[in-house]
Amino acid sequence: MVKICCIGAGYVGGPTMAVIALKCPSIEVIVVDISAARIAAWNSDQLPIYEPGLDEVVKQCRGKNLFFSTDVDKYIREADIIFVSVNTPTKTRGLGAGKAADLTYWESAARMIADVSQSDKIVVEKSTVPVKTAEAIEKILTHNSKGINYQILSNPEFLAEGTAIKDLFNPDRVLIGGRETPEGQKAIQALKNVYANWVPEERIITTNLWSAELSKLAANAFLAQRISSVNAISALCEATGANVAEVAYSVGKDSRIGPKFLNASVGFGGSCFQKDILNLVYICDCNGLPEAANYWKQVIKINDYQKSRFVNRVVACMFNTVSGKKIAILGFAFKKDTGDTRETPAIDVCKGLLGDKAKISIYDPQVTEDQIQRDLAMNKFDWDHPIHLQPMSPTAVKEVTVTWDAYEATKGAHGVCILTEWDEFKTLDYAKIYANMQKPAFIFDGRNVVDPEKLRQIGFIVYSIGKPL
Ligand code: NAD
Ligand code: UGA
Repeated sequence: MVKICCIGAGYVGGPTMAVIALKCPSIEVIVVDISAARIAAWNSDQLPIYEPGLDEVVKQCRGKNLFFSTDVDKYIREADIIFVSVNTPTKTRGLGAGKAADLTYWESAARMIADVSQSDKIVVEKSTVPVKTAEAIEKILTHNSKGINYQILSNPEFLAEGTAIKDLFNPDRVLIGGRETPEGQKAIQALKNVYANWVPEERIITTNLWSAELSKLAANAFLAQRISSVNAISALCEATGANVAEVAYSVGKDSRIGPKFLNASVGFGGSCFQKDILNLVYICDCNGLPEAANYWKQVIKINDYQKSRFVNRVVACMFNTVSGKKIAILGFAFKKDTGDTRETPAIDVCKGLLGDKAKISIYDPQVTEDQIQRDLAMNKFDWDHPIHLQPMSPTAVKEVTVTWDAYEATKGAHGVCILTEWDEFKTLDYAKIYANMQKPAFIFDGRNVVDPEKLRQIGFIVYSIGKPL
């Protein structure tokens, strides 16, 4: 029986391994993590992450060929294939702070593998890492190898949160990069055999290591670039009377462009787009390519511009001050169908409004008060460093309240900001919300989920991203 161990039981490690276990009954999969709380949650009925379809997959395999454990050493030692799926956040200090990837967690995982292994291993980079990381990892592993043969593969993950299970069941492609040596090719084949249990052969792409590592950064940069492009156009739409939804539809009908990822928004969020582009920018700079670096930097700058443009619009519309006014925030997660708040645009918007002395009342169907308070108390880039994965009691921002009910959040408010595109926000009783708000009542739709004309008929003053005022 092939044994797989995955180091890192997070948003990627958990769902990815659960699907491998489901699709490959003859493989034993063990997911390990240094966070005892996370492992306990994976072993309970309350999984540590919310992801549609995940519960069912875990229930089907856990205890059969899928296990979660904190015994990192034991399961590394027993594994044939080791996936490393630890966090690779942006560095907060020292050389490259605010740009480069922090590989501390990756390096500690590699050192653990080198320390405890007693047999040959295939080590798979699942985390998103800077191009050439495999070279560094190889050095760490082989320096102390006790005659053990390690083959490093790059197998970046392309799943998106909220659709992780769907994406894993039916991926556009699986990418495997390895050394161009006979041993490297053999390792690629071994990993290919795992995916071939459910992924059609023509969707499994094999490349050299550096192409695989760079393809992941490039794919995220291209996706984020589309959002910044449409967001830049949304500003122009507002200035000219064009409608960004109509423009995006017309542009996306060109089969060379395609319709996906052209939804204008308050800005993209999530744990990866910003960090991966910053990482790409840093790598370009380090390779003496400042023009390429500046090109990609602009994607982040437009995203920051879009978030601050939204805050400025709210304050300007509400007579240039929100001081002491209650503003309801509908949606705090970085997108619908997830409870993840990492780099959510809601953090910047809330901080902007608090900076103008607003009182904020937040409702999100999947995000807890504790999480929101933690996010608002944290410095930029600090969120993905493990100390923040541990429970702690931050000093609560007293101008912020969190409720479990959209009507409660909006009661007595002067304005409502929609910051996540949860489906339920489309069908709220807006007449009831209007009746319970201060007048004039404003709605600022950062996700284009409501019909502005219908809300105007109720009496709201409506601002939607990229739409005529
Ligand atoms: P995460 O923070 O949810 O999970 C990482 C886990 O690794 C944490 O539970 C942490 O405790 C654990 N960990 C850290 N160091 C460890 C060590 N030495 N030993 C054992 N466990 C350790 O992160 P994530 O969202 O799953 O992302 C993981 C990687 O995958 C990142 O590089 C990310 O860029 C990439 N990625 C993420 C997504 C996504 O949707 N979240 C998608 C594709 C790729
Ligand atoms: C993204 C990529 O889509 C995945 O392929 C990749 O594996 C992953 O990053 C990663 O490397 O972490 P994810 O961040 O989970 O996945 O979610 P997306 O659906 O890409 O959305 C990212 C952000 O962009 C969200 O805030 C979303 O609301 C926003 N977005 C997305 C828009 O504003 N407009 C769009 O048209 C699409």
